[in-house]
Formats: sequence, C-alpha cells, structure tokens
Amino acid sequence: MAEVVIVPDRETAGEIAADLVASLIRSRPDAVLGLATGSTPLPVYTALRRRLAGTDVSRVRGFALDEYVGIDLAHPESYRSVITREVVEPLGLTPSLVQVPDGSLEGAGSAGERYEAAIAAAGGVDLQLLGIGSNGHIGFNEPGSSLASRTRMKTLAEQTRRDNARFFPSIDDVPVWCITQGIGTILEARHLVLLAFGESKAAAVAGAVEGPVTASLPGSAIQLHPRTTVLVDEAAASRLRYAEYYRWAFRNKPA
Ligand code: F6R
Repeated sequence: MAEVVIVPDRETAGEIAADLVASLIRSRPDAVLGLATGSTPLPVYTALRRRLAGTDVSRVRGFALDEYVGIDLAHPESYRSVITREVVEPLGLTPSLVQVPDGSLEGAGSAGERYEAAIAAAGGVDLQLLGIGSNGHIGFNEPGSSLASRTRMKTLAEQTRRDNARFFPSIDDVPVWCITQGIGTILEARHLVLLAFGESKAAAVAGAVEGPVTASLPGSAIQLHPRTTVLVDEAAASRLRYAEYYRWAFRNKPA
C-alpha cells in the first residue's frame, strides 16, 4: 500500500518530496530522476533549489514523463522548455543529462523505443515524481491506457486539453497528441512520489489510492508498486476513505 501523507499545503508537500530527492542525490550523485511537469511538482522544484544549494548535481540525470507532439521546442509550454526553465536551470543540472521525449512530428513515431532504451541504459529511474490528472491519468496515460504500456504516442483526452488550456492562449492551441512514458515504464521506477493538490484532484486521488486497480483510472496502477509515497493536501485528500488511518500511521511512523 502506498504511504499517504496528508499535508496542510502544497509547500509542505514540496518540502517533503524535496527531502526525498535531495537525500537520494546525496547518497547517489548520479541519481536518475523522473521529472513531471504541470503545476503540481513546482513546489518540489522550488524547495529543491534550497535543498541542493552547495551540492554537486553535475552528474544527476533526468527523464521527463512526457512531451506534446508537434509543439515547437522553443514554445514556452513545450515540456522541453518547462523542464529547462523549472528544473535544469534553477537546479544547475547538466542539460545533456536531462532528456525529454522527442515530440517532433518526424521523430515521435520512433521516439518511444529510443526513450525506453535511454532509460534502460541509464539503469532505470530511481525516483519518479508524478502528478495526476483530474481524470486519473499519470504521465499522459489517459483512461483506458494499458497498465503494461510503454513510452509511445497518445491522443490527449478532451478533459486534459481543457485542464491544460490555462497554459495556452485558448484550448485550440493545446496540442492533440503527446508522447508519454507508459504505465509499465513508470512502474519500473524504484520509488514513485505522487503529489496532488486541490478539490479537483480528490476523486482521482481516492480512485488511485483506494479504488480498484483499473486501466479506467491509470493512477490506480500505483497500487501495484511496492514503494509509493502519496503527498496530498486536505482538499485532494477529502475523498479518501481511510484518511484518519493515514494520519495516524504518519504520526506513528517508526524513526
Ligand atoms: C505532467 C504529467 C501529467 C500531470 C497532470 C497534472 O508531466 O505527466 O500527468 O502531472 O496532468 O497536471 P497539473 O500538475 O498541472 O495539475
């Protein structure tokens, strides 16, 4: 079962996740991080700036979860741009060691295989940061995605395009296709850290943590992983049936 930690706000979640990432990097300077984009992981990256100040991060490697297909790489909302702006530059990572799937129209068809090979060559992901969509997606594995899926092209759900329209001038500007690590790929990371904030994520979080494991709610695949940490604020936790138990377990966590 996932360790569920209910925190007062996203900043606290960011601090806890940043502690996990920073202690990994201290014990393994060439750690492989799985990097999420979107709004959810931003407090983690902010907290990491302080945590990693003075730490040599030049050998840290990273793999983004996903990328839009057909977006100009220089577009501020391409995930390549977001990862550069929010992660690589502020944390001082070595740009060539941080990869994002190839979302170019020419490359996307074969990008999945190449990405899988690159992750395998790096020895796999040590710690994967995850957000969750309001429809339960992880990465861009929309409802119905195979629990065994690998990195590949997908079509975004209309719900996801509506949710992400806030990053673009209008919904018509949100790409239709993406390339995403598969659920099978994500499950091979050695530690999953899923974060979710706000009421709009409450149903997805409850389904992911406590619902049946089903392709209809891709986040529920975390139940198949032996080491998952779920960091949620009160609003995102509001539909968890066993919330009191999670609080109790966290208060009584052995040192
Ligand atoms: C982002 C990703 C998505 C987001 C999810 C939540 O790389 O793979 O699964 O984590 O769509 O997005 P936000 O965090 O913007 O609510």
